[in-house]
Amino acid sequence: MSTDTANPTVNSRTVNVAIVGGGLMGREIAAAIQRWPALIDHPVQPRLTAVADINRAALKWFDAIDSVKTRVTDYHDLLGDDSIDVVYVAVRHDLHEQIYTDVIAAGKSLLAEKPFGIDAAAAAAILDAAKAHPTSFVRCSSEMPFYPGAQWAINYIRSGALGTIIEARNSFLHSSDIDPNKPLNWKRQNKYCGNAGVLNDLGMHTWHVPLRLGWAPERVYGVLQNIVTERPGPDGTLVPCDTWDNAVIHSWSRHDGVRFPLTTETKRIDPGHKNTWTFEALGLEGGVRFSTKNPKLVEVFTVAPVAGIGTEQTWQQLDAGSQSVWPTVTGPNFESGFSDSILQMWAAFLAEREGLLGDRFGTVRPEEAALSHTIYEAAMASNETGTAVDL
Ligand SMILES: NC(=O)c1ccc[n+]([C@@H]2O[C@H](COP(=O)([O-])OP(=O)(O)OC[C@H]3O[C@@H](n4cnc5c(N)ncnc54)[C@H](O)[C@@H]3O)[C@@H](O)[C@H]2O)c1
Repeated sequence: MSTDTANPTVNSRTVNVAIVGGGLMGREIAAAIQRWPALIDHPVQPRLTAVADINRAALKWFDAIDSVKTRVTDYHDLLGDDSIDVVYVAVRHDLHEQIYTDVIAAGKSLLAEKPFGIDAAAAAAILDAAKAHPTSFVRCSSEMPFYPGAQWAINYIRSGALGTIIEARNSFLHSSDIDPNKPLNWKRQNKYCGNAGVLNDLGMHTWHVPLRLGWAPERVYGVLQNIVTERPGPDGTLVPCDTWDNAVIHSWSRHDGVRFPLTTETKRIDPGHKNTWTFEALGLEGGVRFSTKNPKLVEVFTVAPVAGIGTEQTWQQLDAGSQSVWPTVTGPNFESGFSDSILQMWAAFLAEREGLLGDRFGTVRPEEAALSHTIYEAAMASNETGTAVDL
């Protein structure tokens, strides 16, 4: 890590970042780093210097970014490069364990894409590697809670405004698989995606906030569906599509010692939805709802005085504006989107790595990521037996 004297941000240190896997998410993160000047007074100035992808065509995309000096097809070539501080890895789930543990063993910090290994055993191995190399700062990717409306909802719950919690729900829904003729890809095959299927794909998005609020489930009941069992393969003939498409986990959690039902929903086939992340928590004294379906809107439940009536149960609406965990040059009255949540997640990751995140919301801890796999395996066992599984 070096001090960048040319950097206009006071006391900001340059952190050299490498990406392993230059596909959909590798490009998204490369783009987020280019938007860093949008952040105000961040302690770190990331510089994307290297990328590894087995596919040369994927590497070509990074030609447009001047700071990328190293493009390699074997990620091992990056691990011995002392100038690289942080590695972001976005590859198939069956490759997570090997690449994540290699990055950690090389002493690099790691922002790992979810699901943090293909299954609970892989997550445990990654967690062990992180514990064995404490100088490697490890976190798992989950950006949806960095929407300002989600932050508002989290802070409202932390304020204690809800009183006794009645129930809570966190969903991540899309419908990209509604067409049975959509060709098979690696995310739709257990051998690459993992036996947890859609839970591996979308589950972290629905467990980051509950786990950070201390709502680790005590008992889970899983309802899992494989709706489209075959899809066209590379030559157009139908081949097995064996992953779970939709998964709902009904669980019992505790808030302030009181049990309440917590439901998480992850669906690849929920008609009409395109990446809809929804969080809702209801209590006896207050409630809060936020959905990326309407990314400015936060709905707040209160029992409030109404002139001439006394008190009334009311749902109020407010606009969340643009500001999330880290301040930006964007005016507070504008709205936020997916790429903003990615930028905020990186701002939180690199600030926490510096020890400067304070009490702001942070990225998924390795223990939380590993616990999510324990929950998925319990949900699959529950779905198999038709009975609830204690954790
Ligand atoms: N956080 C999110 O919102 C989000 C969204 C989509 C995907 N993801 C996660 O990101 C990861 C990657 O998904 P994606 O959609 O970017 O996949 P992708 O298929 O678009 O990209 C993966 C890339 O990895 C490359 N690759 C394969 N083997 C490699 C190796 N050994 N070394 C280097 N590169 C290699 C491929 O050539 C490809 O370019 C997965 O873990 C996925 O679950 C996260």
